[in-house]
Amino acid sequence: MAISKHENKGINMKIRVDLSSSAKDSSYDILVGSGIINAKAGDEIIGALKSAGLKDRAFVITCATVSGLYGQLITGFLKNAGIKPVIFTLPDGEAAKSLEYLSRIYDELIESRIERSDFIIAFGGGVIGDLAGFAAATYLRGINFIQIPTTLLADVDSSVGGKTGINRPEGKNLVGAFYQPRAVLIDVDLLESLGVRELVNGFAEVIKYGAILDSELFLYLENNYKKVLSYDKDSLMHIIERSCSIKADVVKNDEEEAGFRSALNFGHSLGHAIETLYNYEDIKHGEAMAIGMVFASMVSEDLGFCAGETVNRIKTLIKNSGLPVKIPNFDPLKYINAMKLDKKVNNRLIKCVLVKDIGSFIFKELDFEYLGEFLKKLMLTN
Ligand code: NAD
Ligand code: GLY
Repeated sequence: MAISKHENKGINMKIRVDLSSSAKDSSYDILVGSGIINAKAGDEIIGALKSAGLKDRAFVITCATVSGLYGQLITGFLKNAGIKPVIFTLPDGEAAKSLEYLSRIYDELIESRIERSDFIIAFGGGVIGDLAGFAAATYLRGINFIQIPTTLLADVDSSVGGKTGINRPEGKNLVGAFYQPRAVLIDVDLLESLGVRELVNGFAEVIKYGAILDSELFLYLENNYKKVLSYDKDSLMHIIERSCSIKADVVKNDEEEAGFRSALNFGHSLGHAIETLYNYEDIKHGEAMAIGMVFASMVSEDLGFCAGETVNRIKTLIKNSGLPVKIPNFDPLKYINAMKLDKKVNNRLIKCVLVKDIGSFIFKELDFEYLGEFLKKLMLTN
């Protein structure tokens, strides 16, 4: 799908993730623009790499599709900036976010004699970002890394905020670390090659920000989802910038999810259980979250925290954008068992994020008995 022409090439917006109040100031910039990953990148973008600390060698971790499409581009970009790249390509898909592939990365880092002064670059979607970030957090007890996301999901969510990790067969992201990148470079042009299903998948995360934190963004999505999903570059740039600004603000206030940041888990309690029951195949993260957001909204209405109209708006936007809303037909007990392994379970209660009005939320600790019964009821009328 061709992305509409955008006159202004270069950096469109710089967003600071300000972590200066934490003991270890790991603040960094997110640069959003068009055509910034370019073999002729100018001083501004090269300066951003240098000020992030990248000077000599970069170990670029990517996936097969991105390597095929943009391997030469990233190599030319880095060489032009005076950086020697080593490109390491993994298979596409969620299965790569595993101990097995992490181990292969370590082997290759050691084989390539990557040192503490070198950088890892995560060049791909959320899978590559999470995996490469965790390799960076742990190799040599931590080396610097930069995120260059290539999917909408990674642009708006996973590349920002330093959550890194791998999956276990028992559950999503059960092993990981908070480890911030030194910079995030978002080039909207890279979305040109992204399939529609992947674009819609990322759109789910943008709906999430709007639904719980930003009613204006939600309204924008209701009015402009067709434009965004037809790859209109200005509207893509707008939702990426807005999402990154929101996320930067959340992470600034709660870097390691002591409280407020877990609002970004809206839809994740059921969503992660769905991904686990699918064994991370055949369903995408954003799709599972979309079903989870509808479920969380219905729980909220059932408990009297939001009006039916709020549920309707969320469900309609999700449906209109082509995301699923129907809870997949697994045994409710299996859902509950998967949810029990959620990182937000404490004293046999799960901390859920419930929408109030569009743009606001509350946390509620819920017991599994209630959730199981409600799930069963919904699945009967699904
Ligand atoms: P992904 O990384 O698997 O990418 C999806 C597919 O798109 C892959 O097949 C990939 O090869 C292809 N692709 C990537 N860029 C492309 C491009 N420019 N053109 C064409 N094809 C391209 O999936 P994703 O949806 O980006 O990320 C999902 C992962 O992100 C999940 O593991 C999820 O848990 C994680 N995640 C992490 C955070 C976080 O805060 N760390 C937040 C949200 C999601
Ligand atoms: N994607 C949720 C978070 O980063 O906290």
